[in-house]
Amino acid sequence: MRGTRVAGVFAWEAFDSRGRPTVGCRVRLAGGAQGRAIVPSGASTGSHEAVELRDRDDRFGGFGVSNAVRNLNDVLAPAVVGMDAVDRAGVDAVMEELDGTAGLGRLGANSVLALSVAVTVAGANGLGRPLWQVLDSGEEPLLPLPMVNVVSGGAHAGRALDIQDVLAVPVGAGSFAQSMEWAWRARAGSAELLDAAGGNSALVADEGGLAGGLATNEAALALVTEGISRAGLVPGEQVALAIDVAANQIFDGTTYQLRSEGRALPSDGWLLELAGWCERYPVVSLEDVLAEDDWAGWRDAGILMDGGRQLVGDDLFATQLDRLRRGIADDVANAVLVKPNQAGTITRAEDVLRAAQGAGYATIVSARSGDTEDSWLADLAVGWRAGQIKVGSTTRSERTAKWNRLLEIEATAGSRAQFAGSDALTNRRPGLPTRRLDQTP
Ligand code: PGA
Ligand code: ZN
Repeated sequence: MRGTRVAGVFAWEAFDSRGRPTVGCRVRLAGGAQGRAIVPSGASTGSHEAVELRDRDDRFGGFGVSNAVRNLNDVLAPAVVGMDAVDRAGVDAVMEELDGTAGLGRLGANSVLALSVAVTVAGANGLGRPLWQVLDSGEEPLLPLPMVNVVSGGAHAGRALDIQDVLAVPVGAGSFAQSMEWAWRARAGSAELLDAAGGNSALVADEGGLAGGLATNEAALALVTEGISRAGLVPGEQVALAIDVAANQIFDGTTYQLRSEGRALPSDGWLLELAGWCERYPVVSLEDVLAEDDWAGWRDAGILMDGGRQLVGDDLFATQLDRLRRGIADDVANAVLVKPNQAGTITRAEDVLRAAQGAGYATIVSARSGDTEDSWLADLAVGWRAGQIKVGSTTRSERTAKWNRLLEIEATAGSRAQFAGSDALTNRRPGLPTRRLDQTP
């Protein structure tokens, strides 16, 4: 029997970084190698994501996952034992068939993903190769350009601000290690300014971003821009900004609610507001500027891509192939966030990433706000040559686990390592039309 065949599977109820239960899974191969995964979970989750199974009973305020764990141990495990772990797509297909629903909600996408990742990790360990190399087409490692959370708002920070993230993108860095040093400096500069203005930089949100003491959304953009300068770096040239609005959270079905500023705007007014921010601050990337099903509004969002700016769909695409295809056909964005647990299996997530790359979209592999100590996400970003990664701030171990893995891959590869740099942002479709709001698409 081949040494990479699955000999045993075991699941348990673990915790994510927000302290909510999540699914842990360990896979043992016939040759003795093992793979282990504890899956992440979002807070600003879109309605089109694969479905997490929660117990909804008295334990853990209803967030328990004992049913998902039981499904993994009793239903998925017996079907996967005996399969070759290197054939991860085959394992994923068996699990999808067993679940039988598009969203994987019968057995739980949390249980399916836990086994999908654990099998993938075990397969690489069984082959005695680093995970990124097993996922790669055999090329040199491509280290991603990081997007690093500096200020947090929205559902990750008690709604202190309306927008969810203001991030540092080290567009001028020449290596992954340098990009992390520059992002660290941008955060440190921003923290100093926040403290000097009476805020408290010790208060951090779910992803480690600064979370207190800012009155308006625009104040967060100004803080990070000035923080970059304070750190001795040139805003826009060395370190630029990215924004994740997570607009589902501020859409009431009709208008976009800026509660911290006492304003409500229709989608065209909100897009013009964002366009104004982009004129005043060095913003290179905007994510989920509108709500997940505001397709009409998204067609107008093309104005934000002017000047080569990246426009990212997260909840909009929900790492679902059908939604990405619709977005490509409708020309609504030029980049996609790839979150394995939105997809439900590693194979589905990879299919979305490949389709996006084929259409000239930029791709950003992303963690969740409730993440875990695992580092496999870093290997996915390198192996898939995603070009970009977003895992939160430079603090909190569930975040640094991914940064540390990327630093390790770059350091051990030495001169063979390639760094995607700012080219990753400009993997756009040639000739993409730019539009004004008053033009019909
Ligand atoms: P989530 O946030 O994990 O809470 O969905 C991350 C993001 O919106 O990018
Ligand atoms: Zn997002």
